[in-house]
Amino acid sequence: MALAAGAERVAAEFEYTKEDVNRGVQEFIRQMDEGLQKQGATMSQIPTYVTAVPNGTEKGLYMAVDLGGTNFRVCSIQLHGNSTFSLTQSKVKIPQQLMVAKTSHELFAFLAKQIELFLKTHHNDHYVTHVERRKSYVGFTEEQVFSLGFTFSFPVQQSGINKGTLIRWTKGFDIHDTVGKDVCALLQKEIDALHLPVRVAALVNDTVGTLMARSYTSPGKTGTLLGAIFGTGTNGAYVEKLERITKLKKMGGVSAFEGETGDMIINTEWGSFDNKMSVLPNTPYDRALDKESNNPGIQMFEKRVSGMFLGEILRRALLTLVEDKSVPLFSDEHSNQNDFHSTTTIHEASPLWRQWGLDTSFLSITSGDNSAGLKVTRQTLENDYEVSAPSAEDAEAVRLIASAIGKRAARLSAVAIAAVVISTGKLEKPADIATSNNASLEVNEDNIVDIGVDGSLVEFYPNFEDYIREALREIPQIGPQGEKRIRIGIAKDGSGVGAALIALVADQGRKSEFH
Ligand code: BGC
Repeated sequence: MALAAGAERVAAEFEYTKEDVNRGVQEFIRQMDEGLQKQGATMSQIPTYVTAVPNGTEKGLYMAVDLGGTNFRVCSIQLHGNSTFSLTQSKVKIPQQLMVAKTSHELFAFLAKQIELFLKTHHNDHYVTHVERRKSYVGFTEEQVFSLGFTFSFPVQQSGINKGTLIRWTKGFDIHDTVGKDVCALLQKEIDALHLPVRVAALVNDTVGTLMARSYTSPGKTGTLLGAIFGTGTNGAYVEKLERITKLKKMGGVSAFEGETGDMIINTEWGSFDNKMSVLPNTPYDRALDKESNNPGIQMFEKRVSGMFLGEILRRALLTLVEDKSVPLFSDEHSNQNDFHSTTTIHEASPLWRQWGLDTSFLSITSGDNSAGLKVTRQTLENDYEVSAPSAEDAEAVRLIASAIGKRAARLSAVAIAAVVISTGKLEKPADIATSNNASLEVNEDNIVDIGVDGSLVEFYPNFEDYIREALREIPQIGPQGEKRIRIGIAKDGSGVGAALIALVADQGRKSEFH
């Protein structure tokens, strides 16, 4: 088979049709409802105890840390109260061995150490004064302590604004003794061991932070409906009606919120949508990836959508073609046909032979490659992936398959976004656009549905949002008119600012308890 035909055959396996999208949306809404009604459903639908989104007038100096994927970030955020903020931050890559450490202590002590370093570097006056004061006082007084929002982007069963136990690790983390523990208490213990003037005031999922940050900074007075991450992992948090979260009554928690906004932010944990695989697409490459992952059968939606996995899907698809003798991908004509490694131009030491060896950023590079003869793709293959002298045809095949994987991810992302928009009924008012033929309806502040997004895929994958929008238009309950009313905005550094905002809300709650 010619190379182009072989590549087209594999790319076609990733097609996700209009019918698939619509079936996906229906099932997504069903699983969202199920999660609101009972504990332990596939989609966790976790109540966050956050009942309002900010309006931009909030003020103060807060700290935030973010553990969620590849990096650990520490920041301090000055909220100016006029929808703007200043942020100082430091970032370190999380050492691989700590992601799979033997004990929680190893990871959390590392995190506390980074907070100490940050304070010494960026708030040294504050730090030194407090250390000095500590010599004469026992502990710190309220005013001397930074309130910190802890963005911890894994599924957590929250039981209060700064309390929550880890349900399961995702995204390659695996530390057995953390599961079932309160992650805020684990961090506070290590902070206290270093005598830092920091109180873990709020536990925040990155999606909730994104939602809060977008709401603080977004133009106009419309509150944001959904905060979504399409990065190393994927997930969304949205504003739900308290009365629809029926499991909260069973958990005995609803009365505390009566008389408030009538809303609560729900962390969907949609990465685990359809773990039972009733509607998700399933190519041989998806199956193999899952089987050899450290959490088979879990996070099945995430494994088809997010950055941690797309590179690995592509790697497996490419190797299947390389092994197919009838398709000349990365093939060495002058080779010894009896020795498999010498029939291919992929060097023996290439990361392409290793699990997780192909980085998802490569999908963005090749899908967006407009250079003559796909020079950029060929150079990247050669320099980063040790493929010798890849041809333009090789690069074309790689680009075709990579684009198919990226497009499928974007269309699946649209399923999640659409399900939230439809199930919350946000498009039904003020005019039912989906059933209206009024092509000239004006999109304005009153009928916009605002969505905040963050993560490497939405930010860097070429046309990710366009693909999402294309799929949204194919859903009858949204249609071209509804799609226009959906405003998607990047909430850069959302988790930092959002965590600060939640720490502020938590502080206000504490103060009103005391006064
Ligand atoms: C986690 C979520 C998180 C998402 C995005 C998923 O693996 O389960 O809690 O929001 O990644 O970071």
